[in-house]
Amino acid sequence: MKSPILKNPRLAAEGRRRIDYVSGRMPVLERVRREFQRGRPLRGLRVVACLHVTVETANLIRTLRAGGAQVAVTGSNPLSTQDDIAAALAREGVHTYAFRGQSQRDYYRCIQAALDIRPQVVLDDGADVIATLHHERQDLLEGVVGACEETTTGVVRLRALEAQGRLRFPVLAVNDAETKMMFDNRYGTGQSTLHGVMNATNILFAGRAVVVAGYGWCGRGIASRARGLGANVIVVEVHPRKALEALMDGYRVMPMSEAAPLGEVFITATGDTSVLRAEHFRRMPDGAILSNAGHFNVEVDIAALRRASRRVRTIRENLVEFTLRGGRRLYLLADGRLVNLAAAQGHPPEVMDMSFANQALGVRYLAQRRGELEPRVYPIPHDIDDQVARLKLATLGVRTETLTRQQEKYLSSWELGT
Ligand code: ADE
Repeated sequence: MKSPILKNPRLAAEGRRRIDYVSGRMPVLERVRREFQRGRPLRGLRVVACLHVTVETANLIRTLRAGGAQVAVTGSNPLSTQDDIAAALAREGVHTYAFRGQSQRDYYRCIQAALDIRPQVVLDDGADVIATLHHERQDLLEGVVGACEETTTGVVRLRALEAQGRLRFPVLAVNDAETKMMFDNRYGTGQSTLHGVMNATNILFAGRAVVVAGYGWCGRGIASRARGLGANVIVVEVHPRKALEALMDGYRVMPMSEAAPLGEVFITATGDTSVLRAEHFRRMPDGAILSNAGHFNVEVDIAALRRASRRVRTIRENLVEFTLRGGRRLYLLADGRLVNLAAAQGHPPEVMDMSFANQALGVRYLAQRRGELEPRVYPIPHDIDDQVARLKLATLGVRTETLTRQQEKYLSSWELGT
């Protein structure tokens, strides 16, 4: 294996303190870790994890290692690595190739270095490792038992690969677990995105017109948290049922061409490209803030923004001012990358607890079914999703109602009606 690629190994002690602190706020993962410690279900398994290298991810890595896996970690976004965490993981013996502020070349150099472990299981966030395996590292495909995909964008890419008949190993769509999507995507993205915008700008949300593009789970979370802070939220959505839902949730709904002149803060969460583009920049008010919470930095057409600008200057970290030819200024946050991870700390541990418990149990599922699954994109099994929900409730001290025998019978019968 190559030596670690890090920003600063001396940050390890600080990283370790933070990992320990957050561990107590991820109790489901902690239970899975204890179970893994006892049974060692991942003994000898080689795993590449291409994830945002955060304090929460570190707790997932510790869990996989407790199960006996050998892990190589690389970051899933050039701006999301927490350098103290990367240093701490390397100090603990994890093969770590990640630092904040990577170029595209650095990013893929780190992925290639991690792949030297010859993974049997891949944890991907955005499908870049899986795409690399299918392009440049086909020599390693044979050895891959399966993969888990963490995010909507990655699942979309992998379904496209599957539809072309080119996917070479089974993938669990961890993103689609209800205990992931309904909490991490909604409440995690909602809170951390606003945190990122506030960190970069310190704006007051109360009374502001906030345009949210995309009303999937992430957009729903962002819109509801922005409203909670007193913003006047406009939703832009292409899907008719989601648009209707946004409307009945109480937001104004309109196309971006109409929202552009009204918005003061724009937040994209669509997973698609050029959601904010030249025709919109031309109509936005002076001072508008542009940010993205989708996986890739394609939602704001930054090249078009540059072309439309006569001056570009950095105001502070994660805040760049573009002065357009007519004199209006637009402010781009975090280079159009995931604002919640680049300008804040990502989702809080309380939701990553469930996402990463699904990941850990997903890895065990793949290891136990080695050679049995077709090369397809599979939903996370319901019993894993249910187990995570039950454990989360138990750790929160919440008890649920139980059906009586009579109620169970009623639900499984058709005879009784009016
Ligand atoms: N994705 C969003 N938030 C995250 C976090 N805190 N850690 C890892 N991946 C994330």
